[in-house]
Amino acid sequence: MSQHLLLPVVILVVSPIPGAFQDSAASPTQGEFEDLDCGRPEPSSRIVGGSDAHPGTWPWQVSLHHGGGHICGGSLIAPSWVLSAAHCFVTNGTLEPAEEWSVLLGVHSQDGPLEGAHERAVAAIVMPVNYSRAELGYDLALLRLDSPARLGPSVRPVCLPRASHLFAHGTTCWATGWGDVQEADPLPLPWVLQEVELKLLGEAACQCLYSRPGPFNLTFQLLPGMLCAGYPEGRRDTCQGDSGGPLVCEDGGRWFQAGITSFGIGCGRRNRPGVFTAVAPYESWIREHVKGSEPGPAFPSQLQKPQSGPWEPGEENCSFAQPECGKAPRPGTWPWEAQVMVPGSRPCYGALVSDSWVLAPASCFLDQQPRISDSSSVALETWRVLLPSRREEERVARLVPHANASRDSASDLALLQLRTRVNLTAAPSAVCLPHREHYFLPGSRCRLARWGRGESAPASAQLEAQLLNSWWCHCLYGRQGESVPPPGHPPHWLCPAYQEEEEAGLCWKDSGWSLLCREEGTWFLAGYRTLSNACLPPRAFYPLQTHGLWISHVTQGAYLEDQLTWDWGPEGEETEKQTCPPRTEHGACGLKPKATAAGVLWPWLTEVHVTGDRVCTGILVAPGWVLAATHCVLRLGSTIVPHIEVYLGRAGVSTLPQGHQVSRSVVSIRLPRHLGLRPPLALLELDSRVEPSPSALPICLHPGAIPPGASCWVLGWKDPQDRVPVAAAVSILTPRLCHCLYQGILTPETFCVLYTEGQEDRCEVTSAPPLLCQTEGGPWVLMGMAVRGSRELFAAVDPEATWISQTVGEAHFLHLSGSPYWHPEGSDHCPQNLAGAASSPKVAALLLLLSVPLIRG
Ligand code: ARG
Repeated sequence: MSQHLLLPVVILVVSPIPGAFQDSAASPTQGEFEDLDCGRPEPSSRIVGGSDAHPGTWPWQVSLHHGGGHICGGSLIAPSWVLSAAHCFVTNGTLEPAEEWSVLLGVHSQDGPLEGAHERAVAAIVMPVNYSRAELGYDLALLRLDSPARLGPSVRPVCLPRASHLFAHGTTCWATGWGDVQEADPLPLPWVLQEVELKLLGEAACQCLYSRPGPFNLTFQLLPGMLCAGYPEGRRDTCQGDSGGPLVCEDGGRWFQAGITSFGIGCGRRNRPGVFTAVAPYESWIREHVKGSEPGPAFPSQLQKPQSGPWEPGEENCSFAQPECGKAPRPGTWPWEAQVMVPGSRPCYGALVSDSWVLAPASCFLDQQPRISDSSSVALETWRVLLPSRREEERVARLVPHANASRDSASDLALLQLRTRVNLTAAPSAVCLPHREHYFLPGSRCRLARWGRGESAPASAQLEAQLLNSWWCHCLYGRQGESVPPPGHPPHWLCPAYQEEEEAGLCWKDSGWSLLCREEGTWFLAGYRTLSNACLPPRAFYPLQTHGLWISHVTQGAYLEDQLTWDWGPEGEETEKQTCPPRTEHGACGLKPKATAAGVLWPWLTEVHVTGDRVCTGILVAPGWVLAATHCVLRLGSTIVPHIEVYLGRAGVSTLPQGHQVSRSVVSIRLPRHLGLRPPLALLELDSRVEPSPSALPICLHPGAIPPGASCWVLGWKDPQDRVPVAAAVSILTPRLCHCLYQGILTPETFCVLYTEGQEDRCEVTSAPPLLCQTEGGPWVLMGMAVRGSRELFAAVDPEATWISQTVGEAHFLHLSGSPYWHPEGSDHCPQNLAGAASSPKVAALLLLLSVPLIRG
């Protein structure tokens, strides 16, 4: 369907018809039209899901040419008149001049010899004053030919219905045209006229289908004068290029034109039948504009009167068609798993995508045939395909590798056609494929399935994964500097975050994985990745949706499915504005906090729940490690190691969307070796890793310095019950000032802060809040954890950098410039009256502001 802007301007072109005429509308009987025979083809015998018409079956079908090519269809209704759709003639709100159009009559194949066919110029285009765009109705136009058509066996007019004509819903009618055979897939040569049988849908049934939100939340309000034809399950429909063409129904041996192809959402989609302009309501409009033509259109009387009302026999219930693909009652046992067996090599795993096509990596077959593009010479005779629950093996009729298959692993795909169609049942059944604009929601539940030719065949993977959002996927795996693709465009990558890193038996060596993602219980083949030589599952998958066109073009029937719910989710619009967190050699760290409905979410802030109900703050320093204050996790003097549970991705007690919260138990508590004093910092080892995501990300560490120009904050919560994250702004005092203020109390490697006015008691002290600094727009860096009972003194992380990096391995140390801070300077001379002023450090420090520079962000 061509897209038109909604314009306030209404186009009307009524070209005057010469001569004076009687008002035919006043004499609604046959009158002057009586002698024109209509709707009767010579006795004999796409449109989506249609087939070649026989020559002469639809002698009223015309082709409208503009700029040298077919643009729209139309129907001959009288020797000098053609009926078509208004939207065919309007581009950007402007009517294309009549003289630029020509009408081809009596054409069967637009490529072949046009026997009996002839062409007419268009003298005038007439359309309703109310027409603005197809979706708003009035989508019809009358074309007056510059000279009458030559009627003959292949050129005859169709009958028009009277306003009272009743086309009962459920009637099967026919649509014809030279339009696309699938979305964005033109009719192939020799462009033979296509026909498709369509059922008339009642207004209520059609409205019911269109009221159900589809992709992009699109719904549609049918208007009077529109008519739907098609099937809830889709697959048979008109498409781009069929517009203006007729939808005809037989009545008493004559064909009446019930509708004019107008528009639809996509073509042949489930629950989205084609919308036509109903012709009957325009009887008087047509009569009025063709007045005086001899002979004019024929409006024979209807013979078969439907039993019930014109549209609805009472209540019509609306039954949505459910997807016919992607049903797997037991995840891991995939009913579409196809094993392609080529003699002399291991089986190659692919997926059944329709009743006769299997999709598999082309690399499986590349070694069979160096010049794989020449698939006719491949010895397909000996190939077999094994499908679930079928004892017999299928034979292969055709191998169609992707054009770029050998060069590009992003296109490492091939389609294999089976010799005979399989009966799709519970197993085997086909997997659903995503349309190009499909958006797999972040957090979607996904699984892996074998893909390609692996070393050994393990039990099917039970590994669960969740999809990361595309921005995050880009940050973690995308090429540097590349702009972040907004969701909804085909993504560059699909990135799952695995629930468990190590899964016993998950090794599928020398092959690949396909990524299956579930939406409302329906599985989509979302991505694939071949040739991962390690045993680990891939981090980033090639999205299948970019190949939808190729697959549907080749297979003419693969299950491309709209997504089942459409919701941009909270990440939607902000995607492009986000910047990626800094990267260290171990990945990303220190992402800025994200505001959620529940409050601010600090992705590295964890709740450390110690046996009993003590909750401390902890900071994620690596995927499997949390740093916390020793005094908070270990009771003084106690040797009992408590049970500790760590929670990430939490903003207070209000829960985040499912899938963003993570909990882990602590398997060991590590302390640095210190002589004498109990070390203030402890590392908690988690029972399994937490894969990075915008709601769970390690902090950055920054040895030896405060990032220049940083602002620093104490993070924590005020109320230990609800634990809503808060931040209190602070300045870090110089070591000298700190020493002087806290003489006698200050333990080594401790620093002190000064709170911004009024922020002192924002954070609760017993949870041992951390202190972090951030440069404008830059990474967040962990500086220390509060020492027992104090909100001003912090145990510095920096002196433990070596211990942390040795214990954790994957800690994120940034290499930023900055002045070393922790090395003590001359600390002997404290300003008078300051020593011991720690009880009122703020007052003392304020006094000092004049003489001692503060380090402050
Ligand atoms: N508007 C289209 C055209 O210009 C026809 C679309 C019909 N679409 C459909 N799904 N029935 O050719």
